[in-house]
Order: sequence, then C-alpha cells, then structure tokens
Amino acid sequence: MPALSLVRQAYSRRAHEYAELFGDAADAAAEDRDLIAAWAARCPGPIIDVGCGPGQWTAYLADLGHDGEGIDPVPEFVAGARRRYPACSFRTGTVADLGRSGATYGGALCWYSLIHLEPAAMPGALAAIRACLVPGGRLLVGFFDGERVERFDHAVTPAYFWPVACLAALVEAAGFRVAQTEQRRDAAASRPHAAIHARTF
Ligand SMILES: C[S@@+](CC[C@H](N)C(=O)[O-])C[C@H]1O[C@@H](n2cnc3c(N)ncnc32)[C@H](O)[C@@H]1O
Repeated sequence: MPALSLVRQAYSRRAHEYAELFGDAADAAAEDRDLIAAWAARCPGPIIDVGCGPGQWTAYLADLGHDGEGIDPVPEFVAGARRRYPACSFRTGTVADLGRSGATYGGALCWYSLIHLEPAAMPGALAAIRACLVPGGRLLVGFFDGERVERFDHAVTPAYFWPVACLAALVEAAGFRVAQTEQRRDAAASRPHAAIHARTF
C-alpha cells in the first residue's frame, strides 16, 4: 500500500483520540503559540494550515484575525475540525494538491505534518507548497529535530527526524529563503522540536 494510504488509515483510526489530546491550541506549548502568531503576522495573505489534523491551529490563526483554511488527507479529521470549529474552513486533501490551484496563499503552516513523508517525497512536497504561495509568502515548518534523517516509531504511524540544516537546504532548493530556525527541547517531551521559517522571493 502506498505510504499516504498507510498514514491516512492510521490517523483515521485515531483521529478522535488525537483530537482529544491536541485539538485545542490553548493546551499547546506557549512557545509554539508565540512562534506561530509572530510568523503569521508577517504573512501577506490567507494562510493554509497543511495537515491541519483537528484544526486547532487553523482556529488559532482565525482567532488572531488571519483568513485561511485547513487541509488534511484524513476525512475524520476534516469532519471533526468542521464540527469543532464551525466558523473555519476545512477541506480534504494532501500537500501534493496545493500545487494545483495557483499562488493563492500568503502563508503555509506545516506543523508536524511533513514528518510522515518519505524523505524522497520532501522536495516534491516543498515544491507544491512553494507553488501555492504568492511572492513574499511565508512557510513555517514544525518537526522533530535529529542528528540524521532517521525513521522512528511515532505513536500513530512512522515518522522521520530531520536535522535542521538538512531540511533547511531542501527548503531553499525549493525556492525559499530561510529567515529563521528554532530548536527546543522540552523537559517533558522525549523528542527535540525544531521549526524553519522561510519566505518566497
Ligand atoms: C502529527 S499530526 C499534526 C496535526 C496538526 N498539524 C497538529 O499540529 O496537531 C500529522 C498530520 O499530518 C497529516 N498528513 C500526513 N501526511 C500528509 C500529507 N501528505 N499531506 C498533508 N497532510 C498530511 C496527518 O493527516 C495529520 O493530520
């Protein structure tokens, strides 16, 4: 079965449980909320929340006054997000679908949603994101930091650690300039976090 089908199947089974745990941005780390808010303030247009899961970040951005929508390949997530956040817009789709509708967004938030891609699929995914952004549009990627590109057993379905420099190089190769990188290790969390903020030119 292709990788996306496995990811979709795994999250479909656990969408409700995932939403119970992570479906409210108020419960997320304050550092993440602040980082996403500061990034969004610099986006020159509507924001697409790629791999939005339960939709908590789409709703958080809407509360901050940013137009946009969430997209996710898992229908159970999209249905739950619509129920939970009826004022926001959500649709079913994948990162690959973004390249098809032209440059319409000022920002793409990929918060721990590219972690399940096979590494060989990352350049194509970043190119699709680049294609959906207007000139000066901004990307924010959240992911798990690692010393090498390495698969691990994520609680839902396998995922990959990425070294910041390695993912940043792919982001630049896709037509972005990296503006800022962040690395953080929470006392309570077993995996180090990282984020890359980049803009198109
Ligand atoms: C770890 S969850 C993160 C969800 C949400 N962004 C959050 O911060 O809670 C990973 C999400 O990525 C989505 N996803 C996996 N593969 C994807 C793909 N190829 N395109 C878009 N989203 C994908 C999953 O359906 C899931 O919602």
